[in-house]
Amino acid sequence: MEKRNPFILSVYAGPRYFCNRDHETKTIINSLKNRRNITLISHRRLGKSGLIHHVFYQLRNDKELKMFYIDIMDTEDLHGLVQLIAKEIVGKVDGKTMNFIKKFSESVKSIRPKISVDPLTGLPEVEINIQNDYSPETSLTEIFNYLKKQEKHVIIAFDEFQQITEYPEKNMEALLRKHIQLLSNTTFIFSGSRKHMLLSMFNDYRRPFYQGSELLNLGTIDRKIYQKFILNQFKKGNRSIEQPALDLIMNYTKSHTFYVQYFCNKLYGLSEKMITPEIVTNTLLRILQENEVVYFNYKKLLTGLQFKLLEAIAKEGGIEKPTSKHFIGTYQLGTPSSVKTALSALMAKEMIYKDDHKTHVYDVFFEKWLERR
Ligand SMILES: Nc1ncnc2c1ncn2[C@@H]1O[C@H](COP(=O)(O)OP(=O)(O)OP(=O)(O)O)[C@@H](O)[C@H]1O
Ligand SMILES: [Mg+2]
Repeated sequence: MEKRNPFILSVYAGPRYFCNRDHETKTIINSLKNRRNITLISHRRLGKSGLIHHVFYQLRNDKELKMFYIDIMDTEDLHGLVQLIAKEIVGKVDGKTMNFIKKFSESVKSIRPKISVDPLTGLPEVEINIQNDYSPETSLTEIFNYLKKQEKHVIIAFDEFQQITEYPEKNMEALLRKHIQLLSNTTFIFSGSRKHMLLSMFNDYRRPFYQGSELLNLGTIDRKIYQKFILNQFKKGNRSIEQPALDLIMNYTKSHTFYVQYFCNKLYGLSEKMITPEIVTNTLLRILQENEVVYFNYKKLLTGLQFKLLEAIAKEGGIEKPTSKHFIGTYQLGTPSSVKTALSALMAKEMIYKDDHKTHVYDVFFEKWLERR
């Protein structure tokens, strides 16, 4: 019997906890194997990082490949990026570590890896130091030269790639592009949630990465397939869940991966033998109540109009024309120009997003909470 709660909320924990994405997995593997870079885009928390790990898991036994996953979210400049890439590449090696580090140090002179032992865990750690007399650009060149010498096909996933546009260095795109173009044995996955930023990076002919990559727009997981996955996870724990309860979960969460996972994790944690629609609804209410502090905090951080606008969008279940007379009139939002300003502010704060038709509240549970006010 399954003991662990099978609805994972953190990093990838293997295929048994991962729902579907078969088609996307195949598409990415095909791109990589044929050495085409690929860019993975989706809204926050739909499963980009999980999918990259899933792809790497499928390829883990391929002896021809060397794979690196690098999440650059927390980097603030080129120096940080270089340090992270170096750490990821050096830190990844197993068994023959010493030998590898020796080789790495020989070809990457500007970076000194040092092996130390973590005093808390007792595990070996690789410490990376960029020598003071080298610029991060030199280090980057050296690292890429080192990669060039690899006999294996190297795959590098840069997660949260849009972060490079936040660096103080203004030439990041051109700089990376220059290196990337020269690597014949390395293929890249670029991934991120700032859709417009990434799209313009790769689709604008004036920018360095223009047509440098294929695009994969990640959507929600098919509702029926997700429901089957959920049911199976419950069954493995000798429990069950009624079909109307499954339908409610998908409605409440809009099939958005993180929210589905979170909801099911909560339900599973109740240890009920059979999950009914009543239990699902009660669980939703409890989640909203638990998050109330956060939602009130959002309210404090927003202007009166911004919050009112959010509430109106939530109550409409998404709105096609948020500056229309009808919408503004119904919710007494003032003038179209002030609504427009509020919309831009909410967009920049990632409180709302636009799909092909409508503007929506980003956080699905927050939307539910607003809707009920
Ligand atoms: N196919 C899947 N089946 C089950 N769980 C998944 C699946 N894809 C992602 N998850 C889980 O959902 C959560 C959100 O996924 P993930 O972190 O991969 O999204 P993301 O798009 O990278 O988010 P962000 O934009 O915040 O980086 C994680 O806990 C992850 O383990
Ligand atoms: Mg991610």
